[in-house]
Amino acid sequence: MTTADPALLYPQHLAVLTARADEALARSGREHLLIPSGRRHYQVFDDRDYPFAVNPHFKHWLPLTGVADSWIAYSPGRRPKVIYLQPFDYWHVVPEAPNGWWVGHVDVEVIRTPEEALQLLPGPPERCAIIGEANSALGSYVPDNPAAALDYLHYQRSYKTPYEVALMRIAQRRAAHAHRAAERAFRAGASEFEIHMTYCAAARQDATEVPYQNIVALNEHGAVLHYTELDRDPPAQARSFLIDAGASHHGYAADITRTYAADRGGEFQAMVEAVDRAQQAMCAGVRAGADYRQLHVDAHLALMGVLREFGVLRVSPEAALATGVSAAFFPHGLGHPIGLQVHDVAGFAASDRGGTIPRPDGHPYLRMTRVLEPGMVVTIEPGVYFIDMLLDEVKKNGHAASVDWARVDAFRPYGGIRIEDDVLCTDAAPENLTRPAFAD
Ligand code: GLY
Ligand code: MN
Repeated sequence: MTTADPALLYPQHLAVLTARADEALARSGREHLLIPSGRRHYQVFDDRDYPFAVNPHFKHWLPLTGVADSWIAYSPGRRPKVIYLQPFDYWHVVPEAPNGWWVGHVDVEVIRTPEEALQLLPGPPERCAIIGEANSALGSYVPDNPAAALDYLHYQRSYKTPYEVALMRIAQRRAAHAHRAAERAFRAGASEFEIHMTYCAAARQDATEVPYQNIVALNEHGAVLHYTELDRDPPAQARSFLIDAGASHHGYAADITRTYAADRGGEFQAMVEAVDRAQQAMCAGVRAGADYRQLHVDAHLALMGVLREFGVLRVSPEAALATGVSAAFFPHGLGHPIGLQVHDVAGFAASDRGGTIPRPDGHPYLRMTRVLEPGMVVTIEPGVYFIDMLLDEVKKNGHAASVDWARVDAFRPYGGIRIEDDVLCTDAAPENLTRPAFAD
């Protein structure tokens, strides 16, 4: 029987993490694994703190994203110990007493000051692998991130447990619901800022809780890959809308992009639909044994096929790829691993003992070069854009004849198109996590 209830899936997840921790400790020659949750960062010369970003390794073990100065201490053969800071503090809301599905599976020690952890951490510090950022140091417990442990843990993070996939599915539903609200706001004539606020309200997450800054782009702004300006006033005429926005659930990210045409009967809408069809075919390629670098190159060819179909490209997709013209229209990678971080770790990892799989020549922004395996979740986010800066290079490089510039002029006012889903690789057909969330 399968379940989607994270509470029921957590014990198996914890068993996987403890087995991985055992191996990481054996490889690094240490006795204890320590994971600080992290400490707040402050703005320079100021008492204002930045939004707290918990150590991803900490939220891997526990569904806690807002608890600073706390620790996980794991020693093989013993239950994990959670040293949980619940300070005496009347300036801020104090983290609530430990509760939830994880509590019964670990030993919890509540502390009232960060320093009290010193009495509870196993030692000596030099026998510990301490995984975290430098400012989490406490006394002699200084994060040292031994490479043998970190390479192993990062590599293994690529393989999501059923618990993790369950949390990611919930993040997808939250984001898809907000995408729907954003589309309605666009069609009602809202500004970028208003659409962003509508999105956050529907996701019930503010800008510090969503896993990355929302990209809400009307018209030509869609041609700026990471456009985050958010115009306060609507344009005189809204022609197109590109939204790249996610949501989090217990620290797991969803990363979704959609593009809409105001005119549902026009040529831009037709191009959006063509990219969408191509994108779904690419999602179907997320299969065990597929080399993500090849999927990326195939995506170039498919997208150039769309541009040729619409008369933008005058040469074959193969010729556009060979001359670099395709990179002017599709200047980013096909996607990336996703999980505890929106751009998750180990996208280039050659093995769990280190090493890097390089990007193919001419594709400097690809974030994933591995062969896909069951349990991996990756984004598939092809796009085509009309970016003057890059198209000028095409002209300078002697390839102007590859492009019908009048067709570029026709599409430039729409900015660009990107469609992005998050897809789970299984040992059979891929499971698109995003599309069912939109269908719900
Ligand atoms: N969604 C933003 C990115 O993947 O870079
Ligand atoms: Mn993405």
